[in-house]
Amino acid sequence: MKTIIEPFRIKSVEPIRMTTRSEREAILKTARYNLFSVPADDVLIDLLTDSGTGAMSAEQWAGVMRGDESYAGSRSFERFQATVQELTGMPHVLPTHQGRAAEKILFALVGGPGKLIPNNTHFDTTRANIEYTGATASDCLIPEGKIPSVPYPFKGNMDVAALVDAIKAHGPENVPLCMLTVTNNSSGGQPVSMANIQAVKAALAPFGIPLYLDCCRFAENAYFIQQREPGYADRTVKSIAQEMFSYADGALMSAKKDGLANIGGFLSLRADTLVEQARQLLILTEGFPTYGGLAGRDLEAIAQGLTEVVEEDYLRYRIRSVAYLGEAISKAGVPIIQPPGGHAVYIDAGAMLAHLQPQTFPGQSLACELYLEAGVRSCEIGSVMFGKQGPDGRSSLAPMELVRLAIPRRVYTQSHIDYLAEAIIQVYDRRHELVGYRIVAQPQFLRHFTAAFEPMTGVSR
Ligand code: F0G
Repeated sequence: MKTIIEPFRIKSVEPIRMTTRSEREAILKTARYNLFSVPADDVLIDLLTDSGTGAMSAEQWAGVMRGDESYAGSRSFERFQATVQELTGMPHVLPTHQGRAAEKILFALVGGPGKLIPNNTHFDTTRANIEYTGATASDCLIPEGKIPSVPYPFKGNMDVAALVDAIKAHGPENVPLCMLTVTNNSSGGQPVSMANIQAVKAALAPFGIPLYLDCCRFAENAYFIQQREPGYADRTVKSIAQEMFSYADGALMSAKKDGLANIGGFLSLRADTLVEQARQLLILTEGFPTYGGLAGRDLEAIAQGLTEVVEEDYLRYRIRSVAYLGEAISKAGVPIIQPPGGHAVYIDAGAMLAHLQPQTFPGQSLACELYLEAGVRSCEIGSVMFGKQGPDGRSSLAPMELVRLAIPRRVYTQSHIDYLAEAIIQVYDRRHELVGYRIVAQPQFLRHFTAAFEPMTGVSR
C-alpha cells in the first residue's frame, strides 16, 4: 500500500468560501497587496502559519468541556503539569499564554546588556525578546543549513565549533544559556540530530552553560530522528523526544504548534535556580502559577494534544503530506529548500524569479500571485520581513528571498495539497510574467505586517 491516508475522519467541517480571480484582484488591491490585510474569509487555503491553526481532536474538545476553571490548584493544571513533566523530565512547569510569553519571562531574568544568547537560528520573537533586554542574539547554524538547494538530513544542526568560538569571544560568564530550536523554523523547518544535541551539551559542559530547547516542534524533530538517524529506527517517537529533553536544562514551548492547541505555551525548568523568580514574573505578567496565561480548558486541550502529537500514525501522515507537496512542486522545477521541512515547504523565490531584483521583493511578488491564482495565502520570508529602509530610501536585503507554505496540522486533505501543487506549478510555468513590487508605506518596526505595496506593472525593472 503506497498511499498514506489521513489517520482521522472528519466530524465537524468549516466551509471554504470560493472566490474568482477577479474578486481576488479587487480584494488584494484593497489590502494594498499585503496578505496580512486580507480577511481570512477571502482565503481558500491559508498557509500563513502552522501556529494555532491546527484542528483539535474529539478528545481535546471533550477536555475543553472537562476543563477545571478553579483559580488555584485546578485539576486541569495537574494533568497539564504531569504531561509536561513526563515528556520533559523537568519538575518545574510554568504555563504561559503562548511561546513568546515564556521567552519574555526567561530573558527578563537572564538577559541584559553584555549578555550573549546563542542558538542554531533564533525565531524572530526569541531574538526580539533577547534584544529587548539589551543582550545579543547570535545564530550558529551549520553551513549546510544555509544553502537551500543542497539536501542534508539534519540541516537545522548547530555549528558546534562556531558556538564554542562565540562563547570564548564573548566570555563564558556572559553567556547565561544556549538555545537549540527543534525543528529549526527559521532555517526551513529543518531538524536537529540527537548527535548534535549531545555535541552541543558536551561543548557547553566545561563552561557550565545550561542548554534550553525551543521545543515548539519537538515531535516533528523526534520523528525525523527516528527516520533519519542511525540507531533510532526502532525507538518510539515519544522515547526519542524524552531523550532530546534529557540533555536540556530548560525548555520553551509554543503549544500552538506541536501542542496541537489553538493557544498556549510553557516554560519548563530542571533546576530550582530560576524557578522562584520566574514564578514571580509569571504572576505579574500572565497569571497565578496553576493557570499562567490560560484557561483550565486550554490546559486540558494542550495536555491531550501533547499525548496525540507523538503518535506515529499522525506523524507519518503529517511529515509525508508536507514532503508530498515539496516533492510535487520540486519535480516540476520549482526551487525549494531541500529537503522539505517538518511543518512547511519554503520556495526559493529569489531563484524562481531570477528576473526580479531583490530590491523589488520577489517573495512578495510570488506570494501575491499565489493568492491571485488560487486564493492561497503564504508568507514572504525575505527582504520585506528582514530588510529595513535606509536613510537613502533604499531597503537593506535579506540573505534569502523565500516564501513559506506552512501547513496547519490535521486541517487540509490530500486534495487540498494536490490543488496547491497544481496552482504553484501553474504560477511557475509563467513565472517570467511576474512583476516586482515597491513599498508605498511602511512602519518603523516589523514592517511586513502592515506595509502597503504596489505592483511595478509597466515600469522598467
Ligand atoms: N519559537 C519558534 C521556533 C516559533 O516558530 C515561534 C512561533 C515561537 C517561538 C513563538 O511562539 O507564536 O506562540 O509566541 N512561530 C509562529 C510561526 C508564529 O508562524 O512560525 P508564539
